[in-house]
Amino acid sequence: MVRETALEPGDFIYPLFVTPGRGIRRPISSMPGVANLSVDVAVEEARVAHGLGIPSLILFGIPDAKDPQGSGAWDEAGPVCTALRAIKDAVPELVLVADICLCEYTDHGHCGPLERDARGHLSVANDATLPLLARAAVACAKSGADIIAPSDMMDGRIAALRAGLDGNGLSDTPIMSYAVKYASGFYGPFREAAQSTPKEGDRRGYQMDPANVREARREALLDIEEGADMLMVKPALSYLDIIAEVRRLSDKPLAAYNVSGEYSMLKAAAQNGWIDEQRVCLELLTSMRRAGADLIITYSALDAARWLGA
Ligand code: PBG
Repeated sequence: MVRETALEPGDFIYPLFVTPGRGIRRPISSMPGVANLSVDVAVEEARVAHGLGIPSLILFGIPDAKDPQGSGAWDEAGPVCTALRAIKDAVPELVLVADICLCEYTDHGHCGPLERDARGHLSVANDATLPLLARAAVACAKSGADIIAPSDMMDGRIAALRAGLDGNGLSDTPIMSYAVKYASGFYGPFREAAQSTPKEGDRRGYQMDPANVREARREALLDIEEGADMLMVKPALSYLDIIAEVRRLSDKPLAAYNVSGEYSMLKAAAQNGWIDEQRVCLELLTSMRRAGADLIITYSALDAARWLGA
């Protein structure tokens, strides 16, 4: 009766990794219970999520082939666009979010095509990446994505995506910005799943320093100015203060991304019998809601929905 924070399956966005083929459920060893799925299996997983009261999925693509540009990201015959069409068809009630980034599709694992500056320093070509991201967003929205979620950290990407969507008759498609995204060690298992660990260098040039909070405010305000409709903080657990800060800053819908490494820690401790998985999982998710997140992207969505419904 005096509980201040509610946690329900309706708060969850469940991530799916989609890969080409049929009948495939390829487990990700560092994320027990999570797998790369072919489109047909992803549709089944979508039905299960919907049946548990989870309103939304976020889709990531695991392509067969990668190239320096990341051209798989705008391939309408690729796994993500195919899955968007198939899931929309099978379970139209689900809100489908398309993660937009090139790192799963580039052969070097960075979030956009690379260039060397005058000193020979390798970096992502920020401005050349923007139209490629817009192309990927348009392809996904045309295939059925209800929300576009850019997870790169290129400068000017929200404005570029907004213009690209508007210019293609997709002005009603909202953008959920990974506005505040830290250069974090907690993405390790995801990069195993997506085989997207950068081959050379790292992402510190374009992701945020975990020591910074004022920068988080600036990033969030900038994205709002450029037209973001929803904001995200990533990762969640070591950044509950940032979630609270962004909550105070804006009344836009706010999502927290309970990332792969956070999930893996929970699973590893639970498998060793060191913690009570159900209790700790629900405690963690409640803390994200208490900090101010409206929505939680979590690999624990199915488990948590079952526990909450039991
Ligand atoms: C980038 C992207 C990443 C995650 C979501 N989108 C990887 C990265 O930034 O390196 C990580 C999510 C997770 O760890 O669960 N496309």
